[in-house]
Amino acid sequence: MDTGTPATRNRTITLTDTERSELRPQLLDTERLKAGHPWEDTIIWGDALDALSILPDACAHLIIADPPYNITRRYGSTPFRALNRQAYKAFLQSWLPALCRKLRKDGSLYLCGDWHNSAQLQEVLEQELTILNRITWQREKGRGAQRNWKNSMEDIWFAVKDTRDYHFNLNAVKTRRIVRAPYRENGLPKDWQQQPDGTMVRETCPSNFWDDISIPFWSMPENTPHPTQKPEKLIAKLILASSREGDLVLDPFMGSGTTAVVAKKLGRRFCCIEREEEYCLMAAKRLRIADCDKSIQGYTNGIFWERNSLPLQRKKKP
Ligand SMILES: C[S@@+](CC[C@H](N)C(=O)[O-])C[C@H]1O[C@@H](n2cnc3c(N)ncnc32)[C@H](O)[C@@H]1O
Repeated sequence: MDTGTPATRNRTITLTDTERSELRPQLLDTERLKAGHPWEDTIIWGDALDALSILPDACAHLIIADPPYNITRRYGSTPFRALNRQAYKAFLQSWLPALCRKLRKDGSLYLCGDWHNSAQLQEVLEQELTILNRITWQREKGRGAQRNWKNSMEDIWFAVKDTRDYHFNLNAVKTRRIVRAPYRENGLPKDWQQQPDGTMVRETCPSNFWDDISIPFWSMPENTPHPTQKPEKLIAKLILASSREGDLVLDPFMGSGTTAVVAKKLGRRFCCIEREEEYCLMAAKRLRIADCDKSIQGYTNGIFWERNSLPLQRKKKP
């Protein structure tokens, strides 16, 4: 069923029935995966655990896992019902060890959650890998509550197999900030540079608190109807910090395809799994768009910009 006519500035990506028919043959189901079809740079349509049991061990340089948080929510045709803590822990234990076996010995893994499930994520993850950090993403948007604080934070756990041997490219993920109070020492700029247009900027080391990334919304070209789509800018930071060009990025809960799309835009290989056909088709459409458009909102000319700096980024474009 087509999703109707979008409002003039609504840039949400939708699918027509014609596109669904065109894109469906690009999906790789687990039967064909089992039969030995190539799976790199492909969307696997099926259950994560089934697909993981077929993929070779130690294939991924980087894993980004964004599983259902412990909240009742419908993903396409399948609802996820909130579980008690023990049951949610058992859910994690049913796939996380299998997923970690797909990580190379020098690989890194990011695992997303929020306060509902973060304690269990930490507990189960540290049985498999060494946790190096927890990133807090202040995503701003959240459902307001009458008798509680609005939930607008998410956690992204960062873990590796070997603390002495993993890739981390700090320079690729520095954030450009506008300097409001430019300090000079002996008449020279201290830690900032003046751009040709007069703007004063500083490239800062990223911390584990991220407040420069908005959740995708309807006027952004990356937006889809997926209920928990991650922003391309957020996934770009993870991929640029923890992989090299040509590396393989694995995402077992692909959703709308953000990891696949960003991996493709940044010259990485990908292997992404999703059980809802509609989301797989949406991801296939986004990958097709990425053939011609490699832009990532908030990441321009190799630089991450702070939130709401689009007019300045536009000035910089050649
Ligand atoms: C939190 S969302 C991921 C969103 C994604 N990061 C994005 O940017 O769109 C979790 C996804 O996992 C999928 N999913 C849940 N259980 C699954 C399973 N056992 N196998 C494969 N996919 C699953 C859901 O359909 C949902 O789209």
